Amino acid sequence: MNFKNGLFITLEGGEGSGKSTILTNIIEYLEKNNYEVVKTREPGGVRIAEDIRNIILDKKNTNMDGKTEALLYAASRRQHLVEKVIPNLKKGKIVISDRYLDSSLVYQGYARNIGMDEILNINLFAIDNTLPKLTLILDIDPKIGLQRINKNSQREVNRLDLETLEFHNKVRKGYLKLKELFPERIHIIDASKSIEEVTKDCIEQIEKLLNE
Ligand code: TYD
Repeated sequence: MNFKNGLFITLEGGEGSGKSTILTNIIEYLEKNNYEVVKTREPGGVRIAEDIRNIILDKKNTNMDGKTEALLYAASRRQHLVEKVIPNLKKGKIVISDRYLDSSLVYQGYARNIGMDEILNINLFAIDNTLPKLTLILDIDPKIGLQRINKNSQREVNRLDLETLEFHNKVRKGYLKLKELFPERIHIIDASKSIEEVTKDCIEQIEKLLNE
């Protein structure tokens, strides 16, 4: 593949999907193979984007309107894009981002019921057509995902857990719907397998692109 314009890849998935471990493994593999890679995450160490994110996460803002939140995510995304993603793509690098547009489509659009189309619209304004060439979605049953992060899985399931589970089931469904919207760039990876196998499956998809 011609890298003159860089290569933009994003990684998506719900809680306990192993996203950050897999990302580290992918980067290690690519660097070993002498590719210039930039690992980033939204908001990705860009100060303005982080400041915006802090407003979203601030406990005193629990009454934040859902659309306000969606607009702030889009604003944060844009700053990260213009300050970090695009400049590195222009240098011909592989940029891999932990979460991007699809997180908003799924979390705000689908799981929080604002609507995927609406969220896509505001984000198209923010991203000026910069879509990833490849998006890997680490798919796992949220029950297993939550168990993975909740070491103390023996304890009784409470009301909050059930709410959480329902929300994450919705997130999973939203990600699977995305595959129908963007069948070309999105690949679903079975994240219930071992870390080694999931890493291998992800690298296989990236290799396909590199060898195009
Ligand atoms: P974070 O602490 O970054 O952890 P992780 O990526 O490992 O889950 O949490 C990100 C949270 O923010 C996650 O619950 C998804 C949410 N989020 C959105 O709702 N919309 C977005 O556009 C983005 C980027 C994240």
